[in-house]
Amino acid sequence: MLENANRLKLETGLSQSSPTTLPGWHGLVLHSTRSGSNSVAVKVFDNVVIKFGEDTISSLGRDETAYRAEIQRLSDWCADNNLDLNMTKTKELVVDFRRRTSELHCVSINGECVERVSSFNFMDVHIATELQWSSNTLAVFKKAQQCLYFLRIHRKMDLKKELLIVFDHCSVESDYVERVSSFKFLGTHISVDLSWSTNTSALVKKAQQRLHFLSVLRWNRLQTDVLVSFYCATIESVLEHAIPVWYAGIVFNISYLRYIVLMTNLSVASEPETRHKINLDDTLDFGVRTSVQTSTSWKAPIIWDGMFDPNLYDQRHTEEKSSVALTVFAVGRYLDAYLKTFLTSAEQHFMVGLPVTYYVFTDSPEKVPNITLGSHRNIKVIPVEKHTRWQDISMMRMRTISEAIESEIRHRFRYVFCFDVDQEFKGRFGSEALGDSVALLHAHFYKLPQAQFTYDRNPKSKAFMETGDFYYHAAIFGGLWQNVKDLVDACYLGIIEDKLNNVEALWHDESHLNKYFWIHKPSKLLSPEYCWDQSIWDKQGIVVTRLVWAPKHYDTLRSG
Ligand code: UDP
Ligand code: GAL
Ligand code: MN
Repeated sequence: MLENANRLKLETGLSQSSPTTLPGWHGLVLHSTRSGSNSVAVKVFDNVVIKFGEDTISSLGRDETAYRAEIQRLSDWCADNNLDLNMTKTKELVVDFRRRTSELHCVSINGECVERVSSFNFMDVHIATELQWSSNTLAVFKKAQQCLYFLRIHRKMDLKKELLIVFDHCSVESDYVERVSSFKFLGTHISVDLSWSTNTSALVKKAQQRLHFLSVLRWNRLQTDVLVSFYCATIESVLEHAIPVWYAGIVFNISYLRYIVLMTNLSVASEPETRHKINLDDTLDFGVRTSVQTSTSWKAPIIWDGMFDPNLYDQRHTEEKSSVALTVFAVGRYLDAYLKTFLTSAEQHFMVGLPVTYYVFTDSPEKVPNITLGSHRNIKVIPVEKHTRWQDISMMRMRTISEAIESEIRHRFRYVFCFDVDQEFKGRFGSEALGDSVALLHAHFYKLPQAQFTYDRNPKSKAFMETGDFYYHAAIFGGLWQNVKDLVDACYLGIIEDKLNNVEALWHDESHLNKYFWIHKPSKLLSPEYCWDQSIWDKQGIVVTRLVWAPKHYDTLRSG
């Protein structure tokens, strides 16, 4: 009955992955919605069905009954495999050259009529039912006309002939072939530099969206084998799409994939013990911050904005019931000047959601301001004596911290973080900063050569060092209580020995801290984003400031 009728059924906005639409080609193009479309294998029916990325083309013989049966089989198969055909994107174009045409019934899918169109824009080519190409020529002509208008204006403005020709090539002729820097071909993004980064980012983004559902399933306590099946079907298939094509060229982006795979492991492993074996810091994206150093020679991460997933860290530390003791000294005039701002800003930004106790060491406990604290957050004021010299106030912190860890902190907290008081939190200072042994890169030295580091260079001091790794700032250090105890004990010992030898290290406790971290490498470094001096003009690499130095008024605040 349909002897001479050629049917093309095309989806609007069809991807470039389909074969060309030759007149005489009998075909049907169906669009399946995002859900699961990538996980469909090629399925061959009696008539051929070709699966390209998200578009399905079926080609068939001349028999209309077979054509309709084919569509029915395809739609049944999709239904069986949990795929939806996107009816809004599916169009029918009938090309019929018979002398006597008869009324054709619409093609229906799931009881719905597929819309029939008289002309169709496919890959920027307008195909019409009569295959005359006039609508196509007209469209191209119209577009070129618009560009010619600008050409005329340019000529009026007396632009050089060569320039006009260049413009003509770029704008008018480009109507025929647009030059792009990246192109999606069969679901794979190919860019001019063949770096595959666009492709990886696209894959990772897609996989990441699906990871969320995996987490939901896990929280609903589905069995591991079900989770693994879900992972293979919906996430792995995305990540591995066309992998033989791009894998060899992926060097620069492999960390994205590792990140996803690790995240998935976290989500799939249903036993808490298994999940906790996965190191959170292995989920860091070391490649995202290209202009700064993101890990040390001994493989400790240096935490910069963008490298970590804050939710992942918070979730895990909440599950593990991590707790933090924060020590801060406010002796003499430093209390009035800084303590209130320090504590109120910490309540807004420091380890929000985790149990935190502030250990405030002061010579004037009665002057400690009343701060409204969040739940599971406490403040404990511990009286200390006021040393006459400010250097001693600073150095003797090491001994006081050690005593507090020994008598109390070790029994109640996993982590201890020690802070200078003359600073203000400005942004998230969260659980990503927690680690076994944590040091801070000094804002003034992170981009300077080692020769300029202010290590103690006096061989008579215990803090003496000729060479080192980084210059660390003593304004923040922390870690597991055991490690912090070792650190403060070692520094205090050095300070006492120096006193016995009548020497004082150049930067007091900070010099001893630098010596300690040179011998006992920290397991995590915080970038200067975690303690920034706003007077530094060159903010190279600094994307956020999570904590800033408060103005220092040494002349009026310090004693001794
Ligand atoms: N400190 C104090 N009172 C003082 C001197 C120091 O409480 O008179 C404490 C305070 O916590 C301060 C820390 O010791 O933040 C280190 O001293 P400072 O901040 O003056 O040193 P800098 O940051 O300039 O090296
Ligand atoms: C200063 C800072 C001091 C000390 C010193 C080291 O900028 O105020 O606390 O860290 O650098 O050179
Ligand atoms: Mn300070």
